[in-house]
Amino acid sequence: MSEDKKSIHGTWSSRWTFILAATGSAVGLGNIWKFPYMAGDNGGGAFVLVYLACICIIGLPIMLGEIMIGRRGRSSPANSMKSLAAEANTTSAWTLLGATGALAGLLILSFYSVAAGWAMSYIFNGFQNITAESSSASFKNLLSSPLSLIFWHSLFISLTVFIVARGILKGLEKWINTLMPMLFLIILLLCIYAMQTGAFFEGLRYLFMPDFSKINPQVMLEALGQAFFTLSLGMGAIMAYGAYMPANQNIGKTAVSVAALDTGVALLAGIAIFPIVFANGLAPSAGPGLVFETLPIAFSAMPLGILFGTLFFVLLSIAALSSSISLIEPGVAWLIESLKIKRITATILLGFTAWFIGLFSALSFNLLSEFTIFGKTFFNATDFLTNQIMLPLGGIFIAIFVGWIMKKEHVLDELGFQENFIFKAWYFSVRFVAPTLVGLVFLSLLYFFFTEEESPDNEKEEEKEIYIEEMVEELEELKGFSISFRDPKTNEIYL
Ligand code: PFF
Repeated sequence: MSEDKKSIHGTWSSRWTFILAATGSAVGLGNIWKFPYMAGDNGGGAFVLVYLACICIIGLPIMLGEIMIGRRGRSSPANSMKSLAAEANTTSAWTLLGATGALAGLLILSFYSVAAGWAMSYIFNGFQNITAESSSASFKNLLSSPLSLIFWHSLFISLTVFIVARGILKGLEKWINTLMPMLFLIILLLCIYAMQTGAFFEGLRYLFMPDFSKINPQVMLEALGQAFFTLSLGMGAIMAYGAYMPANQNIGKTAVSVAALDTGVALLAGIAIFPIVFANGLAPSAGPGLVFETLPIAFSAMPLGILFGTLFFVLLSIAALSSSISLIEPGVAWLIESLKIKRITATILLGFTAWFIGLFSALSFNLLSEFTIFGKTFFNATDFLTNQIMLPLGGIFIAIFVGWIMKKEHVLDELGFQENFIFKAWYFSVRFVAPTLVGLVFLSLLYFFFTEEESPDNEKEEEKEIYIEEMVEELEELKGFSISFRDPKTNEIYL
């Protein structure tokens, strides 16, 4: 094991700290903001099933691999890859994997910070007299204000830079162990509230009863991307934290605890949110605003809602912060090691870059909403590129590196495993299962792209149109008048 080698950036003071830090990285907006709306966008149970399968079969084995590379390399992901490639007598081109990971981290941070800004602004929401309509309207209001979005985005990035510049080992250890359990408790409280909305079982059914006809390559890619995103995999965040892990800590058990805590929080968030969605007649496919539109309704209706609502968004912002620091850390550690610059300089440099790219994401909800890349706004395009392309691809290469490039005896030595059944199952997964499955999902998506067949994206659009047509018909019948739509650009009347 890598007992003699230590990271120049420090080592976590105890075993518990690594678990907390990695859980801090994993649990964030991905669980509470992204998971529910992605599940809602992709038909509920079908998505959740594929997501859980991706966590167990692909995510967990790769997480073990990432922690192991980090701890053996004892430096930034890029340099850990470099030294392990040298140890395996192979090309130093593997350094690129760490470098692209650092880039993915910056890109994720750029839009993550915009969404974290929403959470921070909700701390001051007040949570009184909120109805489904007023809640949707106030979220739309927030999105339409470039200045507010940029203000909260800037504040969030500044906080991230502040913590990382001081050195995450010092800052993080202190508060993370009280705040994480508190967040957990408030989500439990929301679940209890959800139980008495009258739509609890409808919510559960939506979340856990898979409609297999809804599983298509698009849903699989989204679930796969989300599995990587939520576990902070495929870009080196967990690898960077692994470098600060004590040598005598068991990597396998640690990875299982982190993945279990992370999945638990996401599922609880879903269990709390969907009953509120159904009880208030909201659409589960409301998109990124889902949590921000539903939870305030719940807080406004419950006793002591102002207190719980405020506390919830404070904790969500902190959970986002403990994730965002791990997004920037791989790049910061790399700059410090390779350019020999100070931590503060490296952090400000990268923080500024992420802030600048993030401006386009913030403005994509208002001033730049017409500017699209392959039909997606800047915010959605960055999200798509990182989540669904860069992280899964990074994951494949990490699995290939661990399974095919590193020497088996080094792997065994670092993991502290015997060649027992668990090791064999894991090794089989990183060598064959994970790369094949991720590769297959990509291939099937390419197939959809290049064949005449209906693309899954179009199918979704069509489904939405049919839904709108049905709603309009119902409304017309109910109210006895007819509705038509005018295209704002051409002024033509349709439907
Ligand atoms: N896992 C974090 C979340 O679920 O919010 C986001 C994240 C952090 C993704 C770090 C990737 C990463 F490297």
